[in-house]
Amino acid sequence: MREIVLVNCAYDRSDDSVFTSPRTCERITGGRLARDRGTIYPHVDGVSTEHSCQAVCLRVLRAERRKSVSGETVLITGASRGIGRCLALEFAKHGASTIILWGRDEEKLSSVKKEVEESGKARCHFYRCDVGDREQVYRTIQKVQEDVGAITILVNNAGVVHGGALLETKDDNIEDTFRVNTLSHFWTTKSVLPSMLANGRGHVVGIASTLGLFPLPGVSDYVASKFSVVGFYESLAAELREQGHRDVSVTCMCPGHTTTDMFKDLTTQPFSLTPQQVAEQTIEAVKTNQRRVILPRVMHLTWILNSWLPGSWMRNVLYVTGAMKDMENFCAKR
Ligand SMILES: NC(=O)c1ccc[n+]([C@@H]2O[C@H](COP(=O)([O-])OP(=O)(O)OC[C@H]3O[C@@H](n4cnc5c(N)ncnc54)[C@H](OP(=O)(O)O)[C@@H]3O)[C@@H](O)[C@H]2O)c1
Repeated sequence: MREIVLVNCAYDRSDDSVFTSPRTCERITGGRLARDRGTIYPHVDGVSTEHSCQAVCLRVLRAERRKSVSGETVLITGASRGIGRCLALEFAKHGASTIILWGRDEEKLSSVKKEVEESGKARCHFYRCDVGDREQVYRTIQKVQEDVGAITILVNNAGVVHGGALLETKDDNIEDTFRVNTLSHFWTTKSVLPSMLANGRGHVVGIASTLGLFPLPGVSDYVASKFSVVGFYESLAAELREQGHRDVSVTCMCPGHTTTDMFKDLTTQPFSLTPQQVAEQTIEAVKTNQRRVILPRVMHLTWILNSWLPGSWMRNVLYVTGAMKDMENFCAKR
């Protein structure tokens, strides 16, 4: 059967990927609603011509490499609520066979496990693990591998934010931010990578942030931890490629403000994401092996302009969009 890829794609400069918008899919398929971004349809009528040739070629190449998460064993850190909880449910929906939840709140983890099991066929296990404690990470990974077997997809999602101007931030909070948001990614990845490399199959995903790409006053420890994480995934991807491990992929997600407990004191902005949207885009990124994803897409513009324009420009944007006032309120409540 001939496959036709939906066109009218936008070209994503960050990682040479392309994507279609749901609106586009609806129009192209002429009444047949496309539920999945980038879905491939065997027969498509009335393909739009509003597209760039480059985007279409890249989309076709990417479509060939599209993979499934069906049957995978997925470990998600910080899965007791927010984005992590949605990731667990979404991986189960897309056919992952085993979902392993990590967090510190056992009651919440148990409730997510129940939700996952009720939602489909996936088996679900949870483990109490403070990812900021290296020895605990190593011990718990070993236990998971004994109980469940090899992890094939690792999602480093757990995160914390303390907030506050540098001189008002306690040293302990700065260290905690780096232990949870940055160092934990090293410990978990070092633990699962050997089996991924040995089996020639695996995917490591990091949930970073747009604050790993441009700054925000009042959360310098959080921003620095996320910049580090972006650097970690860029280097890891390059290292694996250099060593010829093409079957183990790396994805770094950089979502903007998301409506979870983490930044709940911030006003929801026009471009705020839901945790469900972040989870859906993460699965899509895994299926299409995207190296870096910035959400919402409009944030690419902020990132590019922040790199090219003087620092005062970013400050003005923060004032005009109300983000600066929001951050002041956020820090004041800490
Ligand atoms: N919300 C946003 O606007 C936003 C935007 C961009 C990126 N992100 C990133 O997305 C990720 C998820 O954030 P979220 O918005 O879903 O936050 P959230 O609702 O506050 O959830 C944070 C999760 O991390 C876990 N966690 C925190 N410290 C931990 C530790 N030491 N050990 C193990 N688990 C720990 C928490 O579980 P327990 O309480 O059970 O330990 C919880 O499940 C974070 O990395 C965050 O930086 C968030």
